[in-house]
Amino acid sequence: MTLSSSWRSPSNIALIKYWGKHGMQLPNNPSLSFTLSACHTDMKIQVMPESSKPSLTVLYDGSERRSFEPKINAFFQRIYDQFSWLINADVIIDSTNTFPHGAGIASSASAMSALALCLLDIDDQIHQVPKVSNTAWWTRASGLARIGSGSAARSVFPVAALWGETNGIKESSDAFAIPWTDHVSGLFRDYQDTILIVSSEEKTISSSVGHELMSDHVHAETRYAVARKNLDALIAALGSEGSVDHFISICESEALQLHALMMAGSTPYILIGPETISIIKEVWRFRKETGIPVCFTLDAGPNVHLLYPASFKDPIHSWIKTKLAGYCADGFFILDVVGGGPERIL
Ligand code: DP6
Repeated sequence: MTLSSSWRSPSNIALIKYWGKHGMQLPNNPSLSFTLSACHTDMKIQVMPESSKPSLTVLYDGSERRSFEPKINAFFQRIYDQFSWLINADVIIDSTNTFPHGAGIASSASAMSALALCLLDIDDQIHQVPKVSNTAWWTRASGLARIGSGSAARSVFPVAALWGETNGIKESSDAFAIPWTDHVSGLFRDYQDTILIVSSEEKTISSSVGHELMSDHVHAETRYAVARKNLDALIAALGSEGSVDHFISICESEALQLHALMMAGSTPYILIGPETISIIKEVWRFRKETGIPVCFTLDAGPNVHLLYPASFKDPIHSWIKTKLAGYCADGFFILDVVGGGPERIL
């Protein structure tokens, strides 16, 4: 008996950053992200439970990728208690990303959330549970994705998601993300995210190592307190009384702080490049000169995410083409939008 499941799951961009974790992928501070749309993973998995020779095959873009196996095997081992059928199964995972692998865009959020959704779906088939998609199901999917990669917990919800225990939000949890869609005012619903690919080189320090370096970081406790304060402020800025100005200052401060932490730890490192800094300065200059509310955020790498309302697409796109593309590797950038969410595919 071979069972199969296919899911598409999006990438997300954290506005309040998860940086530092403990235990089984539990965050040291809560984070909040926008879910993207154009950047996503399409995954199909085939499972033959009760195989005499259990195996894992990982295909990416149709070719076998043995280098992906250790991370997936480690994930499987962590979830054997939930999915005992995995222990003796033949598993084939076939996935592809809409964004080029190695373009410097973190793929773990979209890939691990797609994998979590596929596994949960297979589990339902094994237990002959009718296809469900109630809140409990999505919560479980988020918790499972978290075990694969922390940021993946947030990718299962469209528009925006909050992950991590947050004062005053009783349904929030370190174990899974919760949808934040209904708390995002119309001002931000059509937000664009243009990802300026400054470098597509492999990162010198992975996110996992980065999280680890937070454990003895001299500024760790201050950082977690500031993240909580920034989250409260961002929640207010995104909400019904929406404030684009506050949104901009919180997003940029979070991005810069993430990289400042990297530079100020006991093993300092720098992931941004000269082009990243040039783009940041261009953003500040452009915003000041035009009054257009465009801002930036960064993930754990040199690429820059430009965030702006759809109504300013025209001037911003021409500015990107004439000015910012010059800082990008081969002039490459990706036009994405906020709002995506996972979906079953054929
Ligand atoms: C800077 O989720 O990639 O993008 O849990 O070790 O897989 P692991 O880390 P990961 O870390 C993401 C870090 C970040 C911030 C964020 O997405 O919140």
